[in-house]
Amino acid sequence: MGIKIGLVGLGTFGTIFAPLFAGHPLVDSVVLCDAEADRIAQNAAIPVVARKLVNSQCTQNFDEICKSDCDALVIMTQPWLHAPQCIQAMEHGKMVYSAVPVISLPDDQEILDWCGKIIETVQRTGVEYMLGETTIYRPHTMFCKRMAKEGKFGDFVYAEAEYAHDVDAFGCSLREVAAKRAQGKIGEQRAGIMKPYYERGCKSHPMNYPTHSVSGVVDVVQSRPVKVFACGFRNTNEDPYFANYDFTNITGLFYLENGMSFRVSEMREISPNIGLDGEDFRIFGTRGSYSNNQWADNGRTVPTPDRKENKMTKLTDEEMRDPLPEEVVAAFTEAVKEEKGHGDFMFGGHGGSHPYLVHEFVSAVAERRRPAISAWDAAMYMAMGVAAHQSAVRDGELVQVVDFGKRW
Ligand SMILES: NC(=O)c1ccc[n+]([C@@H]2O[C@H](COP(=O)([O-])OP(=O)(O)OC[C@H]3O[C@@H](n4cnc5c(N)ncnc54)[C@H](O)[C@@H]3O)[C@@H](O)[C@H]2O)c1
Repeated sequence: MGIKIGLVGLGTFGTIFAPLFAGHPLVDSVVLCDAEADRIAQNAAIPVVARKLVNSQCTQNFDEICKSDCDALVIMTQPWLHAPQCIQAMEHGKMVYSAVPVISLPDDQEILDWCGKIIETVQRTGVEYMLGETTIYRPHTMFCKRMAKEGKFGDFVYAEAEYAHDVDAFGCSLREVAAKRAQGKIGEQRAGIMKPYYERGCKSHPMNYPTHSVSGVVDVVQSRPVKVFACGFRNTNEDPYFANYDFTNITGLFYLENGMSFRVSEMREISPNIGLDGEDFRIFGTRGSYSNNQWADNGRTVPTPDRKENKMTKLTDEEMRDPLPEEVVAAFTEAVKEEKGHGDFMFGGHGGSHPYLVHEFVSAVAERRRPAISAWDAAMYMAMGVAAHQSAVRDGELVQVVDFGKRW
């Protein structure tokens, strides 16, 4: 028997994911929840959703879906709401999938507190949490994890990663996204929620959404970030979007438990064409390295003065991806065909990560196991961002990364 899943938050992102969650072969039935009735109606009309929909349980009220008989809830609401909503759902026995980040608030200590509360809820209730971090299922992350497992990097030496998303980026303007998220019954509450934070001097910054940049490398090298020093860039043109920001760009250098260093940049005010993809990483080991869709191997497996040929291998995304089970690909293909009228299964946005995230979460619910990107992974990523911001505020002082106990 399959599972019953509740989809909460049917805005831009939730609507993209709805056919995948509904289309997964282990999902028997779907319940929809959004404060806006038209968003429920729009998602209910997606063919694969319509086929599995329990119409009588669809609701505009989050409390109601928490009390329903769904096995799990997928929470894709505005980013300042995730953590308390996830905890409420877990308290009702619902395994949760949260859109990133864990929570977005202009108060570093409160971010850490919410991470701690989520871990405590998982421990006390036995109900699991998964953060839907897309970088974990990008092709290069999957490839590097396989190479790391086989020891092909040797010892990890250095890595760098960035999320370079300019406020006016072509294709995804952060101004437009923020304006849209501040609309509707829930969105309109944002200004009132944020006001007290800004009144007591809290500032927004790009490191309160660090999950795209930090997660991939840490997931590959599987070593705990210990400390960081960071520098921040302040907006100079009085752009109103950044009125409540202290820094618009922050770069930090982390030291990891395994002895490597890791440069992370979160940038919201940066021209395009920095020579890098907006969301990418490079990882270098004593033997092998990954950079820009290329694997390099110096063939050095033992200390030796003999020089070996450096082998460079260009890789396509298809070569780097892990396979998905055939029946899952077939089901997603059918779902896309029903919705769009053609049968080409596209892996879609964020490096094709969406189907993998859906498959991992649904499988974990069905198997009643801890999912990938657990509460501990999520807390570690957020703690890295908080520590980097704190270091930038203190002009590059070395700051310890709070240890939530993530071990491999
Ligand atoms: N790469 C990525 O992983 C990525 C990319 C884009 C967005 N996201 C995340 O996805 C989330 C959603 O983004 P979006 O752009 O779709 O937002 P959105 O504002 O378009 O949609 C959010 C929806 O949640 C609903 N909602 C909020 N609280 C509710 C409640 N208590 N009860 C019922 N409905 C409620 C709102 O009515 C709204 O329709 C964000 O947290 C964002 O950070 C992640």
